[in-house]
Amino acid sequence: MLNIQLNGELSISKLVIGCMRMNDWKLSTEQVVEFIEWCIERGITTFDHADIYGGDHRNESQFGEALKLKPSLRENIQIVTKCDICVPNAKHPEIKTRFFNTDQAYVLAQVNESLEKLQCGYIDILLIHMFDLLVDPRELGETLQQLKSEGKVKYFGLSNHSPLEFDTLQKYTDMRFVTHQFMLHPLGIQNYHNGTMTHCLKEGISPMIWSPLAGGRIFKPTNAVEENMKSVLETIRQELGLTHIDEVVYQWIFKHSSNPAIVLGTGNKERIERAIQSAENVRLTREQWYKVLIEAGYTLW
Ligand SMILES: NC(=O)c1ccc[n+]([C@@H]2O[C@H](COP(=O)([O-])OP(=O)(O)OC[C@H]3O[C@@H](n4cnc5c(N)ncnc54)[C@H](OP(=O)(O)O)[C@@H]3O)[C@@H](O)[C@H]2O)c1
Repeated sequence: MLNIQLNGELSISKLVIGCMRMNDWKLSTEQVVEFIEWCIERGITTFDHADIYGGDHRNESQFGEALKLKPSLRENIQIVTKCDICVPNAKHPEIKTRFFNTDQAYVLAQVNESLEKLQCGYIDILLIHMFDLLVDPRELGETLQQLKSEGKVKYFGLSNHSPLEFDTLQKYTDMRFVTHQFMLHPLGIQNYHNGTMTHCLKEGISPMIWSPLAGGRIFKPTNAVEENMKSVLETIRQELGLTHIDEVVYQWIFKHSSNPAIVLGTGNKERIERAIQSAENVRLTREQWYKVLIEAGYTLW
């Protein structure tokens, strides 16, 4: 399984296990340990969390219980987590509506809470989950510096920011953001339209792509456009002699020169094995790649 070198010291696996749906997988702590070990054996070493994932924001805790049961796992994996989205939840009844918060006190408290839930001493990459329109970039830069100095977070990145938002926050910290995590799939190409993918090339950043299969909608079209995309993907699948259209989608994402990582949404081992095949062998032609882009609604001229 391939790795992506994000800077001189840090690499992540090209496939990342997304832990957003982990509570749906109904695994015992022993089974989470077994799953993490299974991933490591296949070279998938990076796990994507957020403070808010899972019912009652429990998914970091579920993962942390596995690390407690087998502490040696920690040194063989990279943990990504995120903060700044506030949503009403049982643990924080004082939150009554949805908003973003990058105030220093809030971010520091959230990172402490994530470390507690994950039962580990540091986070490899902390992402600011969404752009906070009330952000004070200077204060946020100082907050990130403090987290780095305290050894709580090794590296930082952003998620779901526009190129302008990314550049603005980058300007206020000497630490280079190591990645940008955002959505991309054949039913959602706004990050080609708005220049975010090209911004990754400009900055030399490998993005982390979330919801690569549109949350499963790729397989269950809900309208004529989605039906059409499914049949385009099926035609390409046949042309390439692949077993499933998920492989076409993964190859379509991997083909971009920014060397993206894909954050997988499945915990199904057979499906993960197919994703590994796709990461290791991108055979989609330039013409097939553009066919998907055009059918997704991109106008070339
Ligand atoms: N930064 C952000 O704002 C953000 C936002 C959303 C998500 N994320 C991250 O991205 C990760 C992935 O997102 P996602 O879960 O939406 O990814 P996704 O891969 O687009 O969707 C996963 C869903 O598709 C289903 N699926 C996968 N392969 C399938 C197949 N061959 N046939 C039928 N169904 C299939 C899965 O079901 P099975 O479980 O049954 O396989 C699951 O329900 C998350 O876990 C999270 O870590 C980040």
